[in-house]
Amino acid sequence: MITTSLQSGTQPTVLVVDDEAGPRDALKFILRTFCNVRSAENAKMALEVLSQEPIDLITLDQKLPDRHGLELLRDIKHHHPDVEVIIVTGYGSLKSAMEGIRQGAAGYLLKPFNVNELTTLIQQTMDKKRRLDFLRYCLRTLPDLWGSEEESGRAWDRVKTEYASLSIHPQNHDALQQDEMTLLPLLSDALEATDRQLLNHSSRVSFYATLMASRLNLTVSEQKALALGAFLHDVGKTSLPSYRFSKDQILPSGEASLCREHVDRGARMIASLGLPIETREIIASHHERWDGQGYPHGLRGTDIPLLARIVGIAQTFDHLTADAPGRVALPLDAAIRQISLQSDTHFDPQLLELFVQVVKDSPVSPRTMEIAPAA
Ligand SMILES: [Fe+2]
Repeated sequence: MITTSLQSGTQPTVLVVDDEAGPRDALKFILRTFCNVRSAENAKMALEVLSQEPIDLITLDQKLPDRHGLELLRDIKHHHPDVEVIIVTGYGSLKSAMEGIRQGAAGYLLKPFNVNELTTLIQQTMDKKRRLDFLRYCLRTLPDLWGSEEESGRAWDRVKTEYASLSIHPQNHDALQQDEMTLLPLLSDALEATDRQLLNHSSRVSFYATLMASRLNLTVSEQKALALGAFLHDVGKTSLPSYRFSKDQILPSGEASLCREHVDRGARMIASLGLPIETREIIASHHERWDGQGYPHGLRGTDIPLLARIVGIAQTFDHLTADAPGRVALPLDAAIRQISLQSDTHFDPQLLELFVQVVKDSPVSPRTMEIAPAA
């Protein structure tokens, strides 16, 4: 049995942050039936409570007397990334509540509260936090997850079994189907347990890759492998204890070499989990470059598997266009100009030309498809 801090059955601790006594007392009254409750009237008091004791979840009013709720959210997610936050808002401020979700909030609650919605959202968020805490603990303490293929297979089997007991996903008697139904949510949660921005990045890269698949003559199994490989291309980063998405591409040299290991570790992990070989190839080769200057093997031109070449373009484009703390996202035109400079050096020129066309033609912005959390 792998034990973690927030086991099923233990009461979570919730911090209610609201300057108005009415909503604050209403929340405290409802939450006391299944949580330990703390409260704070302003941002300063909230940060003090957070520095004094472990908090699992915060309900955060957007309008506080000393700071805007979203500003406080940014601070909380920066210094306490494992604490879940639910934004509390009125109808008039729904847009900024959505912005809160983009910045890592687990959900939002509309005033006046509907008690059923409130308790359901809190329970779902806590269930998810249990799964993420369990995975954070495993990723931190089970080095065999990144060992040889055999060690890794055994360690992941153990994690899968316990994760399934925490999971809300329906049970299925078909062993193979059951395995897949557990595996994908587990890998998605492992990306989120590492950094929610990493999960968002992975989802957007998979979205771009799927757009490319529809323009290329790929078989159905190649299309599936591409979507999956694009989603999992950085799964090896779950092995890096201090990984933060915002530091991608601006890593200090020591961390950069460690970060390079994510390619080998991810490919080994996927092999031990028995996922398709094409998926493993994408993970193994998404940092190779068309001119042979990439890593880990310095493959050149069409020696790099086609699907990995597509994912290499998609992940770079997303790094250029995605918001992240400390990094300015480029507008679409500027990002296209910048990535086009790397045609024939980093990227297959024909594929890059097609990618640019596909992105220009797409009616959907991947920025709108960030993960709506909980559940
Ligand atoms: Fe990568």
